[in-house]
Amino acid sequence: METIEGVLVARTVAQFVIWQQSWRATGRSLALVPTMGALHAGHLALITEGGRQADAVAVTIFVNPLQFGPREDLAKYPRQLSGDCAKCANAGAALVFAPSAAEMYPADFQTSVAVEKLQARWDGHSRPGHFAGVATVVLKLLNLAQADVAVFGEKDWQQLQIIRQMATDLHHPTRIIGAPIVREADGLALSSRNAFLSADERARAVAIVQSLQEISQLAGRGGVETAPLAAHLAGRITAAGGRIDYACIVDAATLEPVDRLDRPARALVAAWFGTPKLLDNWPLDPRVDLPVLTS
Ligand code: PAF
Repeated sequence: METIEGVLVARTVAQFVIWQQSWRATGRSLALVPTMGALHAGHLALITEGGRQADAVAVTIFVNPLQFGPREDLAKYPRQLSGDCAKCANAGAALVFAPSAAEMYPADFQTSVAVEKLQARWDGHSRPGHFAGVATVVLKLLNLAQADVAVFGEKDWQQLQIIRQMATDLHHPTRIIGAPIVREADGLALSSRNAFLSADERARAVAIVQSLQEISQLAGRGGVETAPLAAHLAGRITAAGGRIDYACIVDAATLEPVDRLDRPARALVAAWFGTPKLLDNWPLDPRVDLPVLTS
């Protein structure tokens, strides 16, 4: 194994497995943080959460070809391993697993994991095959790491529910944890896609989080009809120049649309501002205090 920018890096499956087995042999716990690299403060918050949950954190950095569609540019996805390793070292990660595509998917690889109902909705419409690619790589990483917990960001709410469902359905022993969305000062959810916004698009994109916050206040303590809330989201984002992929109120776990706020629900939004499609979501849970944006 090598050390890059102060953190131990495993490049092969064998190196990663030997490392996790020797770590586990000491009786200490492990958290896994899967990423595709190009790390920002949102990812670092996942590493911090991993460190709260376990004695060591292993970060995976792998741009997973299986989750890119034919019209999505896999080649252009930012790859900056040494910078990412420096960030992992600063955030306290014990190890980075950064395999090649050939290491993860040898020539005869042929298995796919499908979480059928959850993957068919929302982002699944515009990105066919995407969530099967995510579920497949995440299961492989969970199997290799044998971690106590794995931490994923709540920004990709549908992805998080798919991973939870997969782990439940397949009896995976690793506990799946969601970490809250990290936001810019004005509330925009952090995403590597934000770098592709022009200054004007960036200024207008804040309508996403503002509209979510507004419907959270309109929703109050639950029991209300969801149709006007979804209409408010779509209207507000469209008025700011965004092109809606979906703006909906869904059951927080099943992602099925709900008509009334009578159970834990989530507002989900995906909208294009220029080229990048931005995702965000907000809890609408009648049982708990709703979050307030403080900037
Ligand atoms: O959220 C991501 O960065 C990716 O979808 C994941 C979970 C690392 C799988 O490649």
